[in-house]
Amino acid sequence: MSVTHERAASEIPSGGRFRRGSRELWALCAALGLIAGLAAGWLGYPRLTSVVLTQPIRFSHSAHAKQDVACRTCHFEGPDGTFNGFPDIGVCASCHAEPTGGRSEDEKEADKLVVEYVRGKKAVPWLSLARQPDHVLFDHGPHLRFGCPACHPDMSHQDYPELRQNRVSGYRNWTMSMERCQTCHRQQSASVDCVSCHR
Ligand code: HEC
Ligand code: HEC
Ligand code: HEC
Ligand code: HEC
Ligand code: HEC
Repeated sequence: MSVTHERAASEIPSGGRFRRGSRELWALCAALGLIAGLAAGWLGYPRLTSVVLTQPIRFSHSAHAKQDVACRTCHFEGPDGTFNGFPDIGVCASCHAEPTGGRSEDEKEADKLVVEYVRGKKAVPWLSLARQPDHVLFDHGPHLRFGCPACHPDMSHQDYPELRQNRVSGYRNWTMSMERCQTCHRQQSASVDCVSCHR
């Protein structure tokens, strides 16, 4: 009797171990499922809510920074104090007047610039990553003394940053939030009236 009892008792843990094992397996499956779901949502959600836009020319800031082309060669204030924003095609033409005829991806892109824009003196329709909605008033003029990195990421290390636009709001990767504008305006005692920034 006692022997059978002992045997039966010794079988319980092994049965328990089997059941515990399957429970662990379920828990593992559930955890993996949850992680997979979260990952799909994390990666998929921005793709559902935004579209990727492509620049007309694949332009590299870092390639030009390595060639010691200063920011001011391409981005400068005119004599009347207005900021040119996107560089004029004449600026590009001063270095990219003739096609290189090269075969690398970079050379082909530089040649596309010459053939499609420089020769016809056509403006390149650049897209702004920082674009604000039309109801916002923004002018670089009063802001230039703060320096570009006060509002933009460090461009000297940017290579073809991905340009995303939210399908609903129209906001892009680097659209500055109203809160950020207002925070600095308060600190600098500039206007925080609605009408100074909205038309
Ligand atoms: C001061 C001279 C200079 C000016 C101005 C200049 N570039 Fe360049 N650009 C270069 C040089 C030099 C290279 C080759 C860089 C290399 O081989 O890494 C280059 C390479 C390129 C390339 C191929 C590499 C890349 O960026 O993907 C493109 C495209 C290009 N330039 C576009 C432009 C555009 C657009 C403008 C005007 C907004 C412009 N460049 C103005 C000197 C200039
Ligand atoms: C050879 C010309 C050239 C030089 C030099 C250059 N840029 Fe640009 N920059 C461009 C062009 C072309 C664009 C538009 C395409 C793009 O965003 O890549 C641009 C776009 C920008 C933008 C707008 C990004 C947005 O929100 O769309 C900023 C900010 C900027 N440049 C800052 C700088 C700074 C800071 C430097 C110096 C480190 C610099 N750039 C040097 C040609 C140049
Ligand atoms: C106080 C913040 C601020 C500073 C400082 C600033 N920017 Fe901007 N920048 C913006 C905003 C906001 C936009 C978007 C404007 C819009 O869409 O109406 C913008 C847009 C741009 C664009 C896209 C073209 C355009 O004019 O909309 C370029 C290029 C640019 N900035 C370059 C520069 C450069 C180069 C500097 C430094 C010399 C600089 N910015 C300094 C806030 C700033
Ligand atoms: C880094 C600080 C800073 C940031 C960020 C900033 N501003 Fe300003 N802004 C100022 C200052 C300072 C003035 C006043 C300049 C002067 O009077 O010379 C000003 C002036 C202005 C003016 C002119 C107002 C008037 O009544 O003359 C407008 C419009 C404006 N900013 C809009 C914006 C918008 C829109 C944003 C965000 C996209 C923004 N600013 C972000 C500092 C900033
Ligand atoms: C210093 C500049 C500045 C001032 C002052 C300012 N705004 Fe804005 N506002 C912005 C910018 C930039 C945006 C776009 C970015 C964003 O939505 O955060 C915006 C966006 C908005 C939007 C649209 C939000 C959306 O989700 O589309 C509304 C509504 C608005 N502002 C109302 C106001 C009102 C009301 C006031 C006065 C109490 C005010 N703003 C003052 C800069 C400003």
